[in-house]
Amino acid sequence: MWTIAGASTEYAVAATGDRIDLVAWGPHGVGDGPSPFAVHGKVQYMLPGDVAAVEYAPDGLRPFLGADLAVAGHALTWRLDSVLETDGLAATFADEVSGLRVALRWRFAPGTDVVERWAVVHNDGPSPVTLTRLGSAGFCVPTPGGAELSYLCGQWAEEFTPASTRLTRGRFEIGSAQGVTGHQFAPYLAVDNGDAVYGVELAWTGSWQITADADAAGLTRVRVGRSLDGAPVTLAPGESVTTPVAAGAYSADGLDGLARQWHAYQRGLAGDRLARTPKVIYNSWEATTFDVTADGQLALADIAASLGVETFVVDDGWFVGRDDDHGGLGDWTPDPAKFPDGFGAFVSAVRARGLEFGLWVEPEMVNPRSALYAAHPDWVYQADGRPLTTIRNQYLLDLGRREVFEFVRSTLDSLLGSYPIAYLKWDFNRPRTEADRSVADLDGAHVRNLYRVLDHLRAAHPAVTIEGCAAGGARVDLAMGARTDVLWPSDNTAPLDRLRIQHGFLSAFAPHLMSSWVTDANGMFDERSRSLAFRFVLASAGVLGIGADITKWTAEQRAEAASWVARYKEVRDVVTGGVVHRIGGPGQSRCAVQYTLGDRVVVLAWNAGGLDGLDRVPARDIRLPLRDLDPTARYQAGDAVYSGAHLMSVGLPVRWTHTHDADLVVLELLG
Ligand code: GLA
Repeated sequence: MWTIAGASTEYAVAATGDRIDLVAWGPHGVGDGPSPFAVHGKVQYMLPGDVAAVEYAPDGLRPFLGADLAVAGHALTWRLDSVLETDGLAATFADEVSGLRVALRWRFAPGTDVVERWAVVHNDGPSPVTLTRLGSAGFCVPTPGGAELSYLCGQWAEEFTPASTRLTRGRFEIGSAQGVTGHQFAPYLAVDNGDAVYGVELAWTGSWQITADADAAGLTRVRVGRSLDGAPVTLAPGESVTTPVAAGAYSADGLDGLARQWHAYQRGLAGDRLARTPKVIYNSWEATTFDVTADGQLALADIAASLGVETFVVDDGWFVGRDDDHGGLGDWTPDPAKFPDGFGAFVSAVRARGLEFGLWVEPEMVNPRSALYAAHPDWVYQADGRPLTTIRNQYLLDLGRREVFEFVRSTLDSLLGSYPIAYLKWDFNRPRTEADRSVADLDGAHVRNLYRVLDHLRAAHPAVTIEGCAAGGARVDLAMGARTDVLWPSDNTAPLDRLRIQHGFLSAFAPHLMSSWVTDANGMFDERSRSLAFRFVLASAGVLGIGADITKWTAEQRAEAASWVARYKEVRDVVTGGVVHRIGGPGQSRCAVQYTLGDRVVVLAWNAGGLDGLDRVPARDIRLPLRDLDPTARYQAGDAVYSGAHLMSVGLPVRWTHTHDADLVVLELLG
């Protein structure tokens, strides 16, 4: 048996013949006892691999239930070669017939309870091998009483909606076949067996799938990995492919505890960049859409600066041919008609207002109506001369091609080198449709080159903050979380809609990644109106931005906005670096997020429900029970002082009215 240990959990596996099986996964010491996965009784009419808690199975080893790896032409079996304890655990397997060699890896990300798993598949044989299934890992959970599966689903403008289903037998699957993470599901699944929650996430920005299979004897096996449907991966002799990392986490503290594991892990992925102060941005998209002019943007910048905004981001519409969404993508030259004094002069004018400058790009895209497409019609994904599909009037460039990669990298280098750009919003507004399936690794070529460009930008332009966006939240995953500074969860910025989206986002992704703007948008799913304060407290739950047409705001609104921006700056280190506890939820009058960092606790609270009778009937304050405070300590919020015990067992009081529908409370631990 081999055991690897994280901060407070461990993961123990053992070899059984040519398999590696899970023995136990849970708190330190959990492996010290009989495995919950051990079976007694006969394995009838199947193979032992079909019922085992196998960590990673080729389809010949687990022929009847879901396997993790399959090749075209024959069922794959292998022999276990070696298990080494190096930086976690590494096990190697070999198939003498095809010459395939597979190395499996397990390791806990340093200081966390997240176990990272991946596989390296190498063709050591004389002929090409076509992989038809290429999972990253299987995670086994004991579910004797069935499993409650929680996931995040949605669509454009409604991403990260929490959903759950009970699985006692059979299969449940989520994923994307779009060559991008997608709006429909986040690559996140949590399995609750009634005693604890086990979660998985995937670090991949192409097509993917997460599949949960519940067997007859109380085991739920979750396969996590890329989806190769229709686009198998072919390895020439001597070639290898490394799967994306599948991450697993255990929590005895429910879905909220699991969320804290993911947050801690993603803070680790961010590394040193987490130490940077997240700047308050203004983004011009909702105010001006494509109607970008130097004067119009500077009018917004004047007001933004007076509100305390730190970075001014010009969204879509700044480049030649971009007067609407029918043209321009691909031609990344500032439009001289929109910036008659030159783009450099415009950027200087923004910076002269004390603001840093940011720019929107969508570098993997091209409109048919563009100079780039006229010059390189062969750069877009296409299938055999068949008609091309447009989505939002645009085609997708095949970033997997070397010349497209070079174009994208050099275009961005040149923009970042030509102007003092501090912030880049990288968008991706359409999924892949046409594709040449004969390419050895279609999805992989695009996604790896995306990562190469992002990695290059971080190395070559380290001061630039990168925001990931894909028609809202279609590119939110661990891999993007590791390569961008912040992610745009949704184009829906309306207050009660956004509250739901952000609550869901925080189940799987950390607040330092959550970009959020204050706008004047009306709800699409919940149109009840809310105050400007509500919108500011909501956008302060992650990385604050403003996206409203602030030229239309009254002097009072601007003064209020300036005070909220100032308050955010006082608490942003706690919000983006603190431990998160969610209290209540969207739809309720009791809905809050608690952030704790050192001696400071910040509580953001919203009335997402109704009112209490507004003094015309006897009513009691809403109480927000806080978590993980020192029960014997005292905490001060303004004039009020509470004990930790009171705050945890009774809760922080809030009272809502028509006009007072949100609050930002800072509690300081008294010495
Ligand atoms: C996408 C993004 C928006 C905005 C527009 C610009 O929809 O999600 O935030 O940038 O593109 O065209």
